[in-house]
Amino acid sequence: MKNEASLKREIARRRTFAIISHPDAGKTTLTEKLLLFGGAIQMAGTVKARKASRHATSDWMAMERERGISVTTSVMRFSYNNCELNLLDTPGHQDFSEDTYRVLTAVDSALLVIDSSKGVETQTKKLMDVCRMRATPIITFINKLDREGLGPLEVMADIEDHLGIACAPLTWTVGMGADFKGVYDLSDDELRLFSARHGGRIVDDKIILKGRHDPRLDEYITASAAALRDDLELLEEAGNPFSLEQYLAAEQTPVFFGSAINNFGVQELLRTFTRIAPPPQPRPAKVMPEKFEEASGAEPTRLVDPAEPEFSGVVFKIQANMDKAHRDRIAFLRVCSGRFTKGMKLRHHRTGKDVAINNATIFMAQDRSGVEESWPGDIIGLPNHGTIKIGDTFTEKTPLKFTGIPSFAPEHFRRVRLRDPLKSKQLKKGLEQLAEEGAVQLFRPLINNDYILGAVGLLQFDLIISRLADEYNVNASYEMVGAHCARWLHSDDKAQFDDFKDYYRNDLALDAENTLAYLAPTPWKLESAMERYPKVEFRTTREVN
Ligand code: G4P
Repeated sequence: MKNEASLKREIARRRTFAIISHPDAGKTTLTEKLLLFGGAIQMAGTVKARKASRHATSDWMAMERERGISVTTSVMRFSYNNCELNLLDTPGHQDFSEDTYRVLTAVDSALLVIDSSKGVETQTKKLMDVCRMRATPIITFINKLDREGLGPLEVMADIEDHLGIACAPLTWTVGMGADFKGVYDLSDDELRLFSARHGGRIVDDKIILKGRHDPRLDEYITASAAALRDDLELLEEAGNPFSLEQYLAAEQTPVFFGSAINNFGVQELLRTFTRIAPPPQPRPAKVMPEKFEEASGAEPTRLVDPAEPEFSGVVFKIQANMDKAHRDRIAFLRVCSGRFTKGMKLRHHRTGKDVAINNATIFMAQDRSGVEESWPGDIIGLPNHGTIKIGDTFTEKTPLKFTGIPSFAPEHFRRVRLRDPLKSKQLKKGLEQLAEEGAVQLFRPLINNDYILGAVGLLQFDLIISRLADEYNVNASYEMVGAHCARWLHSDDKAQFDDFKDYYRNDLALDAENTLAYLAPTPWKLESAMERYPKVEFRTTREVN
């Protein structure tokens, strides 16, 4: 009874989320301010300095040396408002990879940061597509109001048009750029005046005016007062009122305005976030036979509730941990139900082995430490030597396999060229292991013995070449290949599928798990194949086996 109550209490306090944005919109700056509020760091500049060291070079060996840092920044844990927050990093810039997408499958909600002068940008669209797949609730922060940008209505229209989600402002900007005066809190009917003096510190010396009719409004924001009153009237008549239900259903995004660098509007955002963002949610899992190899593929799926007493968790990311002598890796596991305690014996269902977990790691903002206990929504790291794969499920006993941690269709392709033909066995092994780890996708064309690699971000290719040399002693290079995108194929119509396979044989390949994929040479060819074969599904994601 006591355990049940503490499990429920801990679940209710957890918020596991990611920040999504296009590079340079202010994700790092906002992360830093959130950590400051959470007391996880004491000084602005900490996250920033790490980011600089991480991006200063795209040389992978140098990245390796920094890896201790990027491992700890992958998950940032902090507390605020009696909530325990797990902020998962979505690698961007050159680090953009399938991991960026996959992290979004491990969170319960996301914060979207938009640069007010740029509006919606490409990377944001891609990340939002993944959020949409899972109906992830999103809160939006429109940043850099201290600079000239698009008007608030314009940015919101841009979000609604390009991201297909209704906007419900919870604060409203008063001016922008040199005329930025502050934000008006629509729920409290209060104006917070902006001061650029705060820098990185947390101070609470903002002047708060009560209500739009407060006569001091004219005194403080002078010429902007009339425009603000007009805006507020317009919002009242024509704006979307905030609906918690629609936010949780990912149909509406509450919108905040501010300036992350000036720490303005961030606290309002965080306070609301902890109040309305969903705690750990139930997750679908297949109910498997005791031995996974006896699975028929038609196993029923059920929702695993976080409050179920039995521990369960799923691995959504693997990070090679850089001691090449040991080839050790850290598997990031999201706790889905029950309580984890140090030393607990868990079943690794894909392999059928029981393992005592003594060395799990928890990630704090600035370092990592051993886990004593964890609750649903928490992320723990399991050190291993390549035995754990993405999508692996661990429970105390019940055979389950969580779904919804897919592979995402790669957008860039290269053919691997082996420099030393005697190393072909090592090349095969290396590529297969790196594909298992999720670092890259491996395709074998049906018509020849080529190795075609697919990746979501271009840096992955450099990384694979360095790791092949370093860990497998294989000297390889790349050639360009005429593939535009990959789609995994499925059809219940055998005749049409066979016909398709005959016709497109030259562009078909098997991936590392032997799933058939079409490597479309051009967008036009993909379109025409889809038109010609309406009973064949061209999937952009594939569940990992
Ligand atoms: P990212 O992680 O999304 O890539 O963005 P990051 O936080 O690194 O911010 C990108 C740039 O935008 C940084 O400037 C940062 O200082 C600036 N920035 C962030 N928030 C605000 C804001 O509210 N107002 C203004 N005016 N700028 C903001 P930089 O020149 O690239 O770096 P730095 O020299 O400032 O460190």
